[in-house]
This record gives sequence, structure tokens and C-alpha cells, in this order.
Amino acid sequence: MDKIRIKGHFPAHPLKGKIRISGAKNATLPLMAASLLTNQPLKLTNCPRLADVFTLIELLKHHGATSTFNNNIITLHTPSIIDICAPYELVRKMRASVLVLGPILARVGKAEISLPGGCSIGARPVDLHLMAFEKMGAKIEIKQGYIHATAPDGGLQGAEITFPTVSVGATENVLMAATLAKGITTLNNASFEPEITDLAHCLVKMGAKIHGIGTSTLKITGVHHLSGAIHAIVPDRIETGSYAIAAALTGGEIELTHTSLDLLPTFKEALEATGTTLTPTKNGFIAKAPNGPILPVDITTEPYPGYPTDLQAQFMALMTRSNGVAKITETIFENRFMHIPELVRMNAKITQSGRTATVTGVEKLTAAEVMATDLRASVSMVMVALTAEGDSHLSRIYHLDRGYEDIENKLKGVGGDIERYKEYSSKDKEKVSINGFL
Ligand code: UD1
Repeated sequence: MDKIRIKGHFPAHPLKGKIRISGAKNATLPLMAASLLTNQPLKLTNCPRLADVFTLIELLKHHGATSTFNNNIITLHTPSIIDICAPYELVRKMRASVLVLGPILARVGKAEISLPGGCSIGARPVDLHLMAFEKMGAKIEIKQGYIHATAPDGGLQGAEITFPTVSVGATENVLMAATLAKGITTLNNASFEPEITDLAHCLVKMGAKIHGIGTSTLKITGVHHLSGAIHAIVPDRIETGSYAIAAALTGGEIELTHTSLDLLPTFKEALEATGTTLTPTKNGFIAKAPNGPILPVDITTEPYPGYPTDLQAQFMALMTRSNGVAKITETIFENRFMHIPELVRMNAKITQSGRTATVTGVEKLTAAEVMATDLRASVSMVMVALTAEGDSHLSRIYHLDRGYEDIENKLKGVGGDIERYKEYSSKDKEKVSINGFL
């Protein structure tokens, strides 16, 4: 099994240099799903090479897509949907697979998809997706762990849909389906994360009619068919924020290129309040650590434009080294604090009460063996390990590979001492001794 070793230093070795930010994972996945809406090719540039992207390629191929992926440019082409069913063995690998439901239902009139099940950060139901499709006239049945969705004769109908709570995935799924529905669909209390705005812009290039892009009310007038398009994927604001925090935590200075601070309004405010300087450049910005101590700052995660839940664990990593006490409140996912016990193993001082964690900054962190618990939590451990004295070893790094393109080389490029290695389990070692090979 792959692991990562991070050599940490106290005081930290400042990370210095440039990092090129990749295209956003959370924009790429819905954009790839949108390719199912048309029988023409969709070409996406700035596409990150991530495990989740390869998982979705596998699923799209199952539905009839062909794909080419060279130099961060992916082209997806589905002349016809050859299978309307997204099976459990593909969906269980990645929850975002549920995003094929809307496009297949809209294009073919029926779709079947395995229920994605819960995950470590929360139950994550898909009831809001299903409620919206029902409003558009679809009949929804759950049988043997599968969602069976059937559009009425004549296809999905436009409807007025008000989401009781904000959901990124439900907004994306229904937005895609509504582009091919009959009449007008209005989505109230929709998410307007930059990744959704990116999806909407791409859909418009494909011929969709969407008003209110970038706001919480989207009005979509259905069209008969969509065509292919070429679209550049928006920069990854979560990767951007993660490396900005790495600069702050290590006393360093990193120029982040091919990105924009405008994607992270609330994060920018919070990071600047810690004493970190963020200076815009021509195609990104420079993140420079505070001159004095890292100041404690409270954050509460909220839907966009609030503080992103996907940067909560990384901010907690930063607060482990502040010169005071910070409160971190998670309102999006009910179980997104699994990194706390791991960070505590590295000498961080953190207590949890319900949805709020209290982080008291410490003078010195120490290396430990830690375990990645989810995608964003795992990067918080890498950040802390860089400033914790000694060698830390991070296991279950497949979580990292799901969302951070080329993380070792990006960190090495700014002076991080980090390497990936294979550790054989005792069972593997037994096989070696019996068979003489691994
Ligand atoms: C997306 C992001 C994820 C991010 C999250 C919140 C992708 C691939 N993933 O996930 O990185 O952390 O947004 O910004 O883009 N909910 C329901 N019923 C539903 C749908 C959601 O109760 O039908 C709840 C969820 O359990 C969660 C909250 O709503 O508590 C927000 O979830 P949602 O915005 O849908 O997140 P995802 O789209 O799954």
C-alpha cells in the first residue's frame, strides 16, 4: 500500500517558490457528466489528472462514451447512451457518480443508478435530487438499492423548484436535466459555487438557455438538443487555498499561478486575519506568511460565498500553530472532524463539542504515523507534518490522489521534503516468503 513520508522541521523550513494550480476537481466531474447530454464531443481543457476523474471516465464509458485524455485535455463523446444503468461497483467508488442521473434521464427519459450510500463525513442522502426530478414529472422508485427514474411521456417538464437546503450536487444534477426539459425550470435557493457557475457557462456554450448564472436563482428554458463545445475548467479554489495555507503555516512565500483570489472571498478574509499577506499577481497571487505570530481566527463553514467546508481541515491545521484559541464550526457535514484525533497525535491541542472544535495553538508539533480519513483531512495532515519535528508517515493516501494533482512534486518544487513509498503488509511479506515474489 502506498504511503507518504513527510520530513518536518522545527522551526519549519519555509516553503518558497511557485505552484501552478490545476483545474477544479469539483467542476470537472459535473462537466464530464454534462457530456452525456449531447451526441457531440465535449472537449474540456485544464482537466486535472485525478483518481476521481479516471473513475468517472470508467462510468461514462459504461454508458457509451469514448474518451481521449492528453496533456490535461479530455474529450468525451457519447453518440448514444448504450446503458442507462449506473451500477453499484462503479458508483460506490465515488459519490459524484450520481451526477449522471440528470443527464441520462433528460436525454433518454429513464435512468437507473445505484444509491451512493453514506460516507465517512456524513450520511449524504440524495433526497433533494430526487424531490426535484419528481417535481419535473419523473416517477422515482427505489428498488434493491437502485434509484429507478422515469420521465413522463414527452420528457421531463419544466417546474418551479425550491431547495429547502442548499446542495451543490442537487443544483448541478437538476440544472443539467433542465436544459433538455420542456418549458421553464426555476431553481430557487440554488448553490452558486464557482464550479456551478462554470458548469452553467459550459452548458450555455453547448446551447442551453440559462438566466441568473452566479446567483441563487437559476431560470432554465429547455431546448430540444445540445451540441458539443470546448471549455476551459475553472481553477481549483480548494487546491489554491490549501497551498496558501501551506505557505502561512511554514513561514513561507508561495506564488500560486493560474488561479484567482476572487474564487475565495471569505477564505481570503479569514486567511488575511491570521496575518498572512495575499497579493494579487497577473495570473494568481502571492501568499506570504505573517511576519509575527499566526493570529487565531474563528471560522464557520457555510455554502458559497461563505467559508468552504472543503478548506475547514486545512484551516484547522493552520490554527494548531496560532498564538491563541480559535473556534472552528462545521455546519455542512455532520461528521467532518475525523482529522482531529490524527492532528492530536501530532501534538495539536484540539477539543470538540458538537459541531465546534476549539483549537489552542501550540509552540511545537511533533511527527507521527497518521491516517488520511478523507480527501481534505488528508492534506491538513501533510501541512501539519511539514512543521512537525521528525518524519511523519501518512497512510491511506488514495484519499489525497482523489483530489490533489501531483501533490508531492508540487510541494517538492517549493522545498517540501516529501516522498511516496510502498509499504508491504505482513500478508504481502508472507507471500514473498512462500512464493519468492511479491
Ligand atoms: C459537493 C462537493 C464537496 C463539498 C460539498 C459542499 C463535489 C463533487 N463535491 O458535495 O467537495 O464538500 O459540495 O460544498 O462537488 N444533502 C441532503 N440531501 C441531498 C443532497 C445533500 O441532505 O439530496 C446534504 C448533505 O448531506 C450535506 C449538505 O446537504 O450535509 C451539502 O451537500 P451537497 O452540497 O449536496 O454536497 P455534494 O454535492 O455531495
